[in-house]
Amino acid sequence: MEGFNFSRSKHVKNWTQRVELGPSRLNLSELLRNRRNVYGFQSRAIPDKSLLRILEDARHVPSAGFTQDFDFIVVKDPTIRRELATAGHQSDYLLEGLAKSAFISMAPVIVVPCGNKKRFEAKYGRAEENARLPWWLIDAGFASFALILSAFEHGLAASFLGVLDDEKVLQILSLPMDSSIIPLALVPIGYKDPGEEVLWTQRSRKTVRSRRGLDDLVHWNAW
Ligand SMILES: Cc1cc2nc3c(=O)[nH]c(=O)nc-3n(C[C@H](O)[C@H](O)[C@H](O)COP(=O)(O)O)c2cc1C
Repeated sequence: MEGFNFSRSKHVKNWTQRVELGPSRLNLSELLRNRRNVYGFQSRAIPDKSLLRILEDARHVPSAGFTQDFDFIVVKDPTIRRELATAGHQSDYLLEGLAKSAFISMAPVIVVPCGNKKRFEAKYGRAEENARLPWWLIDAGFASFALILSAFEHGLAASFLGVLDDEKVLQILSLPMDSSIIPLALVPIGYKDPGEEVLWTQRSRKTVRSRRGLDDLVHWNAW
């Protein structure tokens, strides 16, 4: 297992302070190591310019056959955010002590990345015969992570929350009921709440400590 490199914790602190200052100067390796799922956001709005830039970045991911078989539903409306928070079991995070605030509904933006099976099928035909894997979900996963990393790069924070009441999400967002568009997760995005620092640090240390090392994950030449 990889040990926690405490010289990095100083970096995390510097990064947290820089959140207020706009775009971070972290390179990709640093962003990958310092990003965490965030469970506390300030309610203040994200500048449209930053939001558009993050969405633009997420558009530049690879996709199966360049089908670009993913979509983003961007929710700013506070009523819809509250409904989504219920579908994302917000109250459970509070009950379990994972969050101190209504972090999903409080985030000024919730992005719902979706896999678009229809767009895949428009190029390749019926997925059941022509797709070895549900590529539209893989592509939407790539796009989600690009979105999240870009948010952190721009001094914001985000989470990926995949445990959802699917029926509620479909209904809230008026999604088709035929499984052609699959919502992957709620991705609340906003400025990190400094009041969450203690929980963030605890979680961060635990994550860094228990991350599997290469010896556990990498198989050279064969399984
Ligand atoms: C497919 C997927 C689904 C996830 N769903 C949830 C979720 O419903 N709730 C949650 O708190 N975190 C969820 N996560 C976040 C993981 O728990 C988190 O990434 C992991 O614990 C490592 O922590 P870190 O992201 O802070 O490094 C999900 C992550 C992935 C990739």
